[in-house]
Amino acid sequence: MRDFTWGIAATGGIARTVGAAIVAEPGMRVAAVGSRDLARARALAATLGAESAYGSYEQLCADPAVDAIYVATPHAQHLQVAEAAIAAGKAVLCEKPLAATVDDAEKMVRLAREAGVFLMEAMWMRFNPLIQRIAADERFGDLRSVQASFGFAAPYDPAHRLWAPELGGGALLDLGIYPFGLAQLLLGMPTGLHVTGSLAPTGVDAEVAGLLHYPGGRHALVAASLLGNYPNQACVVGSQMRADLQAPFWAPQRIVLTGPSMEPEEHVLDPADNGYAGELREVRAATAEGRTESSIMPLDESLAMMGLLADARRQLA
Ligand SMILES: NC(=O)c1ccc[n+]([C@@H]2O[C@H](COP(=O)([O-])OP(=O)(O)OC[C@H]3O[C@@H](n4cnc5c(N)ncnc54)[C@H](OP(=O)(O)O)[C@@H]3O)[C@@H](O)[C@H]2O)c1
Repeated sequence: MRDFTWGIAATGGIARTVGAAIVAEPGMRVAAVGSRDLARARALAATLGAESAYGSYEQLCADPAVDAIYVATPHAQHLQVAEAAIAAGKAVLCEKPLAATVDDAEKMVRLAREAGVFLMEAMWMRFNPLIQRIAADERFGDLRSVQASFGFAAPYDPAHRLWAPELGGGALLDLGIYPFGLAQLLLGMPTGLHVTGSLAPTGVDAEVAGLLHYPGGRHALVAASLLGNYPNQACVVGSQMRADLQAPFWAPQRIVLTGPSMEPEEHVLDPADNGYAGELREVRAATAEGRTESSIMPLDESLAMMGLLADARRQLA
């Protein structure tokens, strides 16, 4: 069977990390890299063993040797690249969040569905086997509470994508999507939301603490911040069992399950099986099976998350 081939759009931090994950995955390779700058595309292509390099994302998307495009630009540029990839009929794995705005995300999903092209948000947390174990475990009993934080003190730089509004900056879209996303995965969409926090001088949200309400008093306590070093752990509390997720909870290496009528259980991640490998395999499997969406990270759930994060941001205004 021939290799599944990837085209990587952008040459930044996550493009390099996921590019290395593709190279490490049997039966896959990076066929091409696209960048705003041809020299940067050539440099990353050489590192990853890709035969082609392009000085634009559009040229990358037109490469017939590429099966799937991995979109690794800042959020605000996701739609432009995904649009070109969908128009070229390529499967698309788009970095989280799907886009910088609800409108852009809705447009991207509509275009993919109209074209019958596979699209998935690269929410690698959902592909981590320890997260999947928690989501599937029926021993929690009545799931009462999800508590999770993701925060680090990021040096203030108005031009950096974390702080720049034109690049989709802010703690919610970059970091909050993980704690909010863990609550969404385990408890579903909340019936109510209360947040507090603060804005940066650029106007993007710098820190957010949220209380997500669910029927019967179930809840999630979540936090995301660019202003301080949070524990970055998570805790999932049920009436019969609790799960403690070691930092970084969105890519846990180790979880511990405890409960009144069970011996503590420790589960450790196989390092070869992190969430990047899982999301890459999902794209290949979906393409082989003719599926245009993932049941692990469905597009409607990505859109619902975009709406929830926008609601949270509005409460800070
Ligand atoms: N899944 C994860 O673990 C994870 C981790 C980090 C980030 N992410 C997501 O991945 C995306 C990229 O994050 P990153 O940390 O890789 O960012 P980064 O290091 O700043 O790289 C972004 C790249 O996008 C390209 N780009 C296109 N338009 C740009 C613009 N106007 N300004 C700056 N760069 C632009 C650039 O590459 P060229 O100019 O060479 O094309 C740049 O190197 C974000 O959506 C982020 O949320 C995911």
